[in-house]
Amino acid sequence: MKRIISTLCFALLALTSFADEGMWLPSLISSRIDDMRAKGFQLTAEDIYSINQASLKDAVMLFDDGCTAELISRDGLLITNHHCGYDAIQRLSSVEHDYLTDGFWAMSREEELPNENLNVKFLKRMEDVTERLAAGETPEQIIEEACENGRYKASIEQMYYGNQQFLFVYEQFDDVRLVGTPPSSIGKFGGDTDNWAWPRHTGDFSMFRIYADKDNRPAAYSPDNVPYRSAAHFKISTKGIQEGDFTMIYGFPGSTQEYIISDAVDYIVHRSDPMKIRVRTKRLDLINAAQAKDPAMRIRYAAVNASIANAWKKWQGEALGLERLNTVQSKREYEEAFERWAADKPEYRDVVKELKKEYARIFDIYFTLELMSETIRTSQLTNVYLRSELGDELFPQVQALNRELFRTLYREYYDNCPEGYMVPLFAAKVERFGSPEAYAEHMFSLTNREDDVKEVEELNALLSDIKTTVGKLVEQLGTNSLRNLNSARLNELYTTYVKGLREWDAERAFYPDANLTLRVAYGKVGGYHYADAVYHKYYTTAEGILAKDNPEIYDYNIPQRLREIIAEKDYGRWGVEIDGRITVPVCFLADNHTTGGNSGSPVLNGRGELIGVNFDRTWLSTMSDIAFDPAFCRNIALDIRYVLFVIDRIGNASYLFDEMDFAE
Ligand code: ARG
Ligand code: GLU
Repeated sequence: MKRIISTLCFALLALTSFADEGMWLPSLISSRIDDMRAKGFQLTAEDIYSINQASLKDAVMLFDDGCTAELISRDGLLITNHHCGYDAIQRLSSVEHDYLTDGFWAMSREEELPNENLNVKFLKRMEDVTERLAAGETPEQIIEEACENGRYKASIEQMYYGNQQFLFVYEQFDDVRLVGTPPSSIGKFGGDTDNWAWPRHTGDFSMFRIYADKDNRPAAYSPDNVPYRSAAHFKISTKGIQEGDFTMIYGFPGSTQEYIISDAVDYIVHRSDPMKIRVRTKRLDLINAAQAKDPAMRIRYAAVNASIANAWKKWQGEALGLERLNTVQSKREYEEAFERWAADKPEYRDVVKELKKEYARIFDIYFTLELMSETIRTSQLTNVYLRSELGDELFPQVQALNRELFRTLYREYYDNCPEGYMVPLFAAKVERFGSPEAYAEHMFSLTNREDDVKEVEELNALLSDIKTTVGKLVEQLGTNSLRNLNSARLNELYTTYVKGLREWDAERAFYPDANLTLRVAYGKVGGYHYADAVYHKYYTTAEGILAKDNPEIYDYNIPQRLREIIAEKDYGRWGVEIDGRITVPVCFLADNHTTGGNSGSPVLNGRGELIGVNFDRTWLSTMSDIAFDPAFCRNIALDIRYVLFVIDRIGNASYLFDEMDFAE
């Protein structure tokens, strides 16, 4: 008995004492404001989010449907990460104008570069529509009304697995032009080696400007458009930061799964992550080798590679972190304690058991879908590349790479697909050709054909059989509109389970999982104990860049100008004294709860001024999508002072400072 009590207390404690865990809905931030103010925030809830007056939310936007960006001038100038602008920068680049390698700086507004297919969305308002829906209004009606005849975009998102429904109304701008980006050797400094790691020295930022029509309304690109004037933009603080200082992050976190039960965590750590990591390792080896041989291939595969590598590395940190924290076990104990409480409550009594049952039913189905996305459904295998599109120069290299990808990914799919779930045509063909490799060779040879690909019937037959199989699998899950490992039944059960948790564990600070809607996270600047005897300080400096500098390695080969400035400590007005020496601060750590989508988010001080731009998490904190450990979880931000230094001394674009506001 005593043991049970102590485990129970431990479980409760472990899940309630997370000071800075949480991603809060801005319209409900008044429930957190006392805590925020106690930790150093000096503004009000209305300053963060208001529909009656200008508030900080008017300066924050969803960038390219997957990142965050913020306004830093009265003339529509925004800052986000380099890796968030990466697709756009790649599309604007060629071997002649290689902005990925050389960077780009518009020296006047006329020189800014328009982008097709790039938009930003500002949240106009959000509303809890749970009651309206319960009263009989349909989601379609609510959305239609909110769009005001096409002026806005709107969607309804579930919170707490449908215990609450929120309407989000956005204004979307499509004329977004590139203003400046440092070269990759600054913006992606350290590449995938340094990605998800600390100490970090990546100058991960790029800048764009939003244009609107003469009435300040969204408009398609036109040379007549004018810079967008928002009700708010961030003031920039160059005063520096100290360990313990309050920080707040305002942005669009994409997806977390904080309330899933132990079985799901077990699946992620022991089945899903390992498979995805193994397959991507092979894919990356092939792509990296092809890129290393040819600069045109390096550019063509830059964004693809970065996105494959990013999740690949994140899963490794995640699996490691969850193992270290023993999350499967602590979740199990938490569930058992819940079940004891629920034993005499018919509404909740069986919910954990039912969840486990449903997981057991869908694990293979879900695993198959994940495996397919990682193998036979990757775009390298489903798109056919024509010589006429790629040109004589690229075609042979792309084909050589694709051939290897076909062989490798067909094999992975064949070996790992759970019994009874394989695409029937695929299974039959492997049988006929004798091995997945032989079948891959055959299918690959079809992609070499010069005629219209639509004629390549065999390829299309396979694609269509893949589609049918996916359709059937999704049908078995009951829906395809759910994020992550889920099913229609699971979602229903979680509605009940999370409702029950909130009744039972009343002290715990519940927040809805991230779902790419606007959130506030807050915490403080600070380092952490990385390992026995190893403490990671909260900031890095310019000298650390020089220490990593290596002209032999693409990702570490800094511009000569930067090399000289740091070697001579020629920092001019950007030099500050830290711990007794003059330097330029580069990145810093804080314990805000963030995830993918928070890239580019403003990092604000207690006065709501911009002190940094969020761009990553540390190695052992990637698990915070599932379990947040305050001892380890740190977000990584770019210090705004390094941004200003790069704009001025590398970009020679200090004219941009004229439109910014600096805090006194
Ligand atoms: N890890 C960061 C994020 O999740 C930065 C990614 C940049 N991409 C890269 N492959 N280095 O997006
Ligand atoms: N780099 C991530 C992004 O693109 C943010 C880092 C994270 O996942 O915390 O959103």
